[in-house]
Amino acid sequence: MTRPIEIVPSVLPADFSNLGEECRRLGEAGVDRIQWDVMDGNFVPNLTFGPDVIAACRPHTDVRFEAHLMVADPDLMAKQYIDAGCDLLIVHAETSSHLHRTLANVADLGGNAAVALNPSTPLTEIEHVLDLVEMVLIMTVNPGFGGQKYIKTMEPKIAACRAMLDAGGYDIDIEVDGGISADTIAGAASAGANVLISGSALFRYDSLTEGVADLRSRAEAAQAQ
Ligand code: DX5
Repeated sequence: MTRPIEIVPSVLPADFSNLGEECRRLGEAGVDRIQWDVMDGNFVPNLTFGPDVIAACRPHTDVRFEAHLMVADPDLMAKQYIDAGCDLLIVHAETSSHLHRTLANVADLGGNAAVALNPSTPLTEIEHVLDLVEMVLIMTVNPGFGGQKYIKTMEPKIAACRAMLDAGGYDIDIEVDGGISADTIAGAASAGANVLISGSALFRYDSLTEGVADLRSRAEAAQAQ
């Protein structure tokens, strides 16, 4: 089954002094959802959005919000991010010594869960939690910053993940995050990713609408091959 392509902006390159308007612009540009790169300065050497910032932006668009929790303790504020309007929480497998409990807790709190893997983390880390997630995020950069170079060697990992999910009969999306642009999106989509995060490349287009459309058409063309 070909899974629909979704183009999802990271707000990392957005105008932080005007995030509500940026979310409205992204919604009008046709994005499928918006990803908040939540960073705590501990799991990654950067600090970004608390739940109050996200809650303030929630009323500016109807587009789904997801919180990419690049934080050392994903259990600490899961409820606050859900209450702020992120109904999908992406938990890094590397950040919980009880990953199964952490992901199950997201559902108990009324949210939906996804699990993320850094480039060096093997797929075996998530094979026993797939019943708890709607999406697997395969990082194609090392987390912490936008504008980094796409790690092409992740493509066999994306393909292996797709094969693992299909073999188990899981209705689960694969998202990729990091260095996704007009030049790299086809490789990621061909490998099996259907949810594609783009930050710096998307915001470089003359218009967000043009960027979303171009990235989507490139991904769909690659998927169809
Ligand atoms: C890394 C971040 C970035 C961001 C997208 O921690 O998660 O991958 O979302 O950045 P670009 O699209 O600029 O590489």
